[in-house]
Amino acid sequence: MIEKRAVFATRFAAVATTVGSAVGLGNIWRFPYEAGMHGGAAFILCYLAFVFAIALPVLCAEFAMGRDTRSNIFGAFRKLCPGGAWHYVGYVAILASLLILSFYSVVAGWTVEYTLASVCGKLNFADAATGHGQFVELTTGWRPVVWTVIFLLCNVCVLMGGVTKGIERMSNILMPLLFVLLVAFCINSFTMPGFADGIRFLFSPDFSKITPAVLLSALGQAFFSLSLGLGCMMTYASYFSDRNRLGTTAFTTAMLDTLVAILAGIIIFPAVFSFGISPGSGPTLVFEVLPFIFSQLPAGAVWSTLFFMLLFLASITSTVSMSEISITFLCEEKKMSRRSATLLSSAIALVGGVLCALSFGPLRGFTIGGMTVFDLFDYVSSNICLPLGGMAVSIFVGWVIDRRMLRRQMTDGGAFRFRLLPVLVFCLRWLCPAAILLIFLNSIGLI
Ligand code: PHE
Repeated sequence: MIEKRAVFATRFAAVATTVGSAVGLGNIWRFPYEAGMHGGAAFILCYLAFVFAIALPVLCAEFAMGRDTRSNIFGAFRKLCPGGAWHYVGYVAILASLLILSFYSVVAGWTVEYTLASVCGKLNFADAATGHGQFVELTTGWRPVVWTVIFLLCNVCVLMGGVTKGIERMSNILMPLLFVLLVAFCINSFTMPGFADGIRFLFSPDFSKITPAVLLSALGQAFFSLSLGLGCMMTYASYFSDRNRLGTTAFTTAMLDTLVAILAGIIIFPAVFSFGISPGSGPTLVFEVLPFIFSQLPAGAVWSTLFFMLLFLASITSTVSMSEISITFLCEEKKMSRRSATLLSSAIALVGGVLCALSFGPLRGFTIGGMTVFDLFDYVSSNICLPLGGMAVSIFVGWVIDRRMLRRQMTDGGAFRFRLLPVLVFCLRWLCPAAILLIFLNSIGLI
């Protein structure tokens, strides 16, 4: 409890932690594969629009709720609207966090395996066929189950070992390093034969490609990438100091997160076209492409080891934040010890994770609605639960509670003027709920 009331000493620490949660596989793995599957530039255009018009206002609302109540998602809804049923949104958040933790751990498990394979010099090959073969060897069958379990164990160690502080400090140094590495690889992309094709694919939109499915995926990606709609950012904001300028923190987080995603796109797509890989390959895309990029570089094994290690770290800072949702629920609402809560939620994620890991191998043929377990978990959590959570937050802050809460929080209690408040209120009351609803209805074919 004492820890819960603690605040980040500096604004830098607050931004670093929210960015730590936001930046992860969502930017470097999920963004390129979603963009590749949904028409490239058309998807990116929708994604950018949704980040700034929908996700950013919801992020401000989550920050405001978290700091105002200094509690988790259940407590925040309850304190702001005592006696209401709004805290049930928290259950959707828990479902989403466990589903995400399950499939995220599989991909994070690949980063562990790729780090080790790079160290052993096993990730060097020259053509697409070998690359694909290598990926299949590393990620199908029962092997990924082992790596998923190893990753979840690392996650448990971080959560239970009280090393969160250490991880934070480490990531304050290493995340900027990841950023530098991304910029360097991005520059390297200029030298690839497929550079022009890659850039065209990323930035020259074909508007006819904007379909209901593209809109829904771009919306889901915006929420996923900013860790929104499940109370992660709310919980983090409950540790912010009273002098934080929430609007600036939210904008900085959204900008940095988007920048990392775009950089990842500039790294992946020129390589995709250079090596003749299909941009629509799905979740495996990035892991098939990256080794090619490294094999073209001098001292490729060193680069790839460093890169996958940093990606692993970026994943841990994200999984720690999503694990907190169910852990704080079990601790604070169900009065469990933190230890049991961590073990229980990790055990659930483990079962889900194993099913997801097997989706690329033995369970490949097992589909529900045409999706493997992995795809289903990803789809339900990112495209349905998170936007629903975001819609609930925007309606709640925009309509249900006293609007002075938002004003108070966005101005640090009246310390300065927040000129964009009317725009923010408009977005929360009208734009966000309406847009999310329309995209939902549109994607199920009702409009
Ligand atoms: N935003 C994280 C990423 O991009 C994933 C995440 C989703 C983290 C939801 C927490 C909650 O990798």
